[in-house]
Amino acid sequence: MEYDLKAMIRQRRSVRTFKKEPVKPETLQKLEAYLQQLDNPFGIPVEFRILDAKQYSLTSPVLVGESVYVGAKVKHIPQSELAFGYEFEKFCLYAEALGLATVMLASTMDRPAFEKAMEVDNDAAEVMMLVSPIGYKAEKMSVRETMMRKSVKGDERMDFEKICFADSFDKSVCYEQAGIFADAVEMVHLAPSAINNQPWRLVLAGDKVHFYKNIVPQLTNRPLCDIQKVDMGIALAHFELTMSAEGKTCRLIIEEPPLSHPENLEYIASYEIS
Ligand SMILES: Cc1cc2nc3c(=O)[nH]c(=O)nc-3n(C[C@H](O)[C@H](O)[C@H](O)COP(=O)(O)O)c2cc1C
Repeated sequence: MEYDLKAMIRQRRSVRTFKKEPVKPETLQKLEAYLQQLDNPFGIPVEFRILDAKQYSLTSPVLVGESVYVGAKVKHIPQSELAFGYEFEKFCLYAEALGLATVMLASTMDRPAFEKAMEVDNDAAEVMMLVSPIGYKAEKMSVRETMMRKSVKGDERMDFEKICFADSFDKSVCYEQAGIFADAVEMVHLAPSAINNQPWRLVLAGDKVHFYKNIVPQLTNRPLCDIQKVDMGIALAHFELTMSAEGKTCRLIIEEPPLSHPENLEYIASYEIS
């Protein structure tokens, strides 16, 4: 199914209050087929499963009315957070295009129940980095959801100029100065992130864009995985998918450029237009 990527990125928001209406079987079938063929530029397999909340006693304290979840797991190896975030966001955008609402959950869920349902094999270093409910958005947000959105300022994003730079971190640029990358960077700017921390910092350099992560120690150093790298995987997906929707192909490279950067930033990856 073709869909308008930029429209879905602009329209999507985390939903935590659902209608009691079950997800249509034909919609679930489409989603299932999509999840089976998802991939990522790191070549790391991510396994998705659609889970019935009642069957596996799955709950989340921040949700109301959900009855189906999507979980995913990956072997915890270098780049696995990036691969996971990339694929999970592709799933969320496709779900949005199918009329289904989602919210990524890394912590506010009954993790043991979800890990059991996902058959997470700790001995094989498998990690379930996120789950999400899928369903139809309720007309009105629950009080819990309203409070949650307020506490993370879910409707806000920092200024474009704070995340986008040209050639070095000394020169920030606005949307109008971002040239052929403007829309792709704007889509990164709108992406979801854990507690809305928006860790992405991008440096435009000729035909390349370098991605850095603004380190928040309590998110980066979580025992299960670096959740900010999951955020960065989401950002990479928004960037690459937007470029590709505009007919521009780009190649992912992981080769740190000789740029000096503030200490709180970590180089992640670059895209090069090909
Ligand atoms: C990696 C990641 C983990 C998240 N974990 C949670 C979570 O545990 N609980 C929750 O309620 N929201 C969680 N969120 C949702 C964010 O709070 C939300 O994306 C952010 O506040 C921006 O709001 P928006 O998605 O409506 O644009 C997570 C989002 C991401 C990307």
